[in-house]
Amino acid sequence: MTALLEVDNLRVAYGKIEAVKGISFTVEAGQVVTLIGTNGAGKTTTLRTLSGLLKPLDGTIRFEGRPLAGVPAHRIVALGLAHSPEGRHIFPRLTIAENLQLGAFLRKDGEGIAKDTQRVYDLFPILGERARQAAGTLSGGEQQMLAMGRALMSRPKLLMLDEPSMGLSPIMMQRIMATITELRASGTTILLVEQNARAALSLADRGHVMEIGKIVLSGTGADLLHDESVRKAYLGED
Ligand SMILES: Nc1ncnc2c1ncn2[C@@H]1O[C@H](COP(=O)(O)OP(=O)(O)OP(=O)(O)O)[C@@H](O)[C@H]1O
Ligand SMILES: [Mg+2]
Repeated sequence: MTALLEVDNLRVAYGKIEAVKGISFTVEAGQVVTLIGTNGAGKTTTLRTLSGLLKPLDGTIRFEGRPLAGVPAHRIVALGLAHSPEGRHIFPRLTIAENLQLGAFLRKDGEGIAKDTQRVYDLFPILGERARQAAGTLSGGEQQMLAMGRALMSRPKLLMLDEPSMGLSPIMMQRIMATITELRASGTTILLVEQNARAALSLADRGHVMEIGKIVLSGTGADLLHDESVRKAYLGED
């Protein structure tokens, strides 16, 4: 069976700076796969390239077996790949409900959209309570939930989350991680980028450790959690 996502020898550069230097990995349908690594390792660059926002220098990306080369970002969303970006990027002057609607901009099934909006409100009740309020009035963590909810509104086959726990309190962080577990249980495949390596590896089926543009170690979440070099470098243990 082909993997949902296959990345082969992906290279991405900003001018002369090569940020991603030939990485390969796959995401099987139903899995949670995590990319961890230090600041500047190339994780965000990888997600932005998968969403069609950056053009690769080399390598191939296949989604459901189909090469994504040259496919524009909005078509990639339509194919089922959604991205909750680093740093939230919600629309502060629009209401929460309007932000969620934007996530469904390619869909025409009003009933399905209403159902999925309710699903987001069930996952994050605060968003439902504040539905008519400007999104800019939400706290940082609540905006993070909105960004995730918006990505879910396209009903993605693959949901890419870039540091969903950034800036969150421990309780909010647990909430986000529990939501990821719930989403997986409901059949959403997830590619998760996280600074909190322990939390990410604890719930991931597979993980890849990135260092300066390369994948230096791969394994199951459990393998990596117990790997000595990972424990020292990313879990703050000695
Ligand atoms: N727009 C840009 N122009 C030039 N260089 C960039 C640009 N965006 C990122 N880079 C560089 O590319 C490298 C990879 O950055 P990237 O944002 O992908 O890292 P990251 O793994 O997501 O890091 P973090 O954990 O800090 O978010 C870094 O060296 C960064 O400085
Ligand atoms: Mg990043």
